[in-house]
Amino acid sequence: TYVVTENCIRCKYTDCVEVCPTDCFHEGPNFLVINPVACIDCSLCAPECPADAIYADNELPEDQAHFLELNAELAEVWPVIAEPKSPLPDAELWNEQGDKLQFLER
Ligand code: SF4
Ligand code: F3S
Repeated sequence: TYVVTENCIRCKYTDCVEVCPTDCFHEGPNFLVINPVACIDCSLCAPECPADAIYADNELPEDQAHFLELNAELAEVWPVIAEPKSPLPDAELWNEQGDKLQFLER
């Protein structure tokens, strides 16, 4: 499966949603996650993300490993997002800020 990692938080560009053939993405207030059951590993989403937040599970940076479980967990409770929308208003400001897990809203 592919995994959305920390740099999506407070950005949520949603370019990823547009290219996913199997509607894997689920939306929370300031973060998206991938449903590992729906993901077919097509790899289309990763290069679309302006925040470079999407990785294959076997290529996850070590400090992002916990996002594998977090994606699976939140995909069960958040609704599917099938159409892209505007990024969060301060997306540019928050891109690459680091240490954003503390800001995750559920
Ligand atoms: Fe969707 Fe493909 Fe990305 Fe999986 S790898 S989330 S199927 S676009
Ligand atoms: Fe997030 Fe990147 Fe998609 S910022 S919403 S994973 S395009």
